[in-house]
Amino acid sequence: MNKTLIAPSVLASDFGNLQRDVEMINNSEADWFHIDIMDGVFVPNISFGMPVLKAISEHAKKTIDVHLMIIDPDRYIKEFAKLGANILTVHYEACTHLHRTLQAIKAEGMKAGVAINPHTSVDLLKDVIKDIDLVCIMSVNPGFGGQSFIENTYHKVQRLKEIISMNNAETLIEIDGGVTDKNAAELSKAGADVLVAGSFVFKADDQPQTIKNLKQIANS
Ligand code: DX5
Ligand code: ZN
Repeated sequence: MNKTLIAPSVLASDFGNLQRDVEMINNSEADWFHIDIMDGVFVPNISFGMPVLKAISEHAKKTIDVHLMIIDPDRYIKEFAKLGANILTVHYEACTHLHRTLQAIKAEGMKAGVAINPHTSVDLLKDVIKDIDLVCIMSVNPGFGGQSFIENTYHKVQRLKEIISMNNAETLIEIDGGVTDKNAAELSKAGADVLVAGSFVFKADDQPQTIKNLKQIANS
């Protein structure tokens, strides 16, 4: 079994000390940077945009996983590639021509991800699963950090895992929202490959140790 990866969500970091927090992730056992871009239209919150991503990617030494919570993401694919995104994840609910969007992301040399809201069934991805490098199952309603984990997620992970193996796909499963030391082991057992953690990491006194513990629990 592959190791479960940990992707701290920079949304929960201290923006006044962004470089410090980026270095903390660089020097920790974290695997990826998870970057949440929100437009205030697709979700009821605005996070940050291109200049902040540029500042992060100038210092980040690990995979940059960008989660776009924006409408019409096709407009910005080239720009996110230039800014150093390694994985670009768009929302299923925000894409009318998802297949085309996935090809456009790959054409820019990035891995293509699809995020699904809690109400969206994983079965809707069956026909494009082979084209998706990563599915991000939202385990909270997107828009804010610090919300409680939705329990139905375990079931969605299991079902998605079945769809992936039925299709001989190599898609990774990422879980985003409300991840803590209480649900990490069960998520990983259900088939999760990547756990995003925002508040759980950044609210801790010892953040590198918290990342290390979470990784250990997820891989126990
Ligand atoms: C929510 C974001 C998440 C968020 C996770 O819309 O996509 O990545 O930062 O934060 P926590 O771990 O605090 O739920
Ligand atoms: Zn996210």
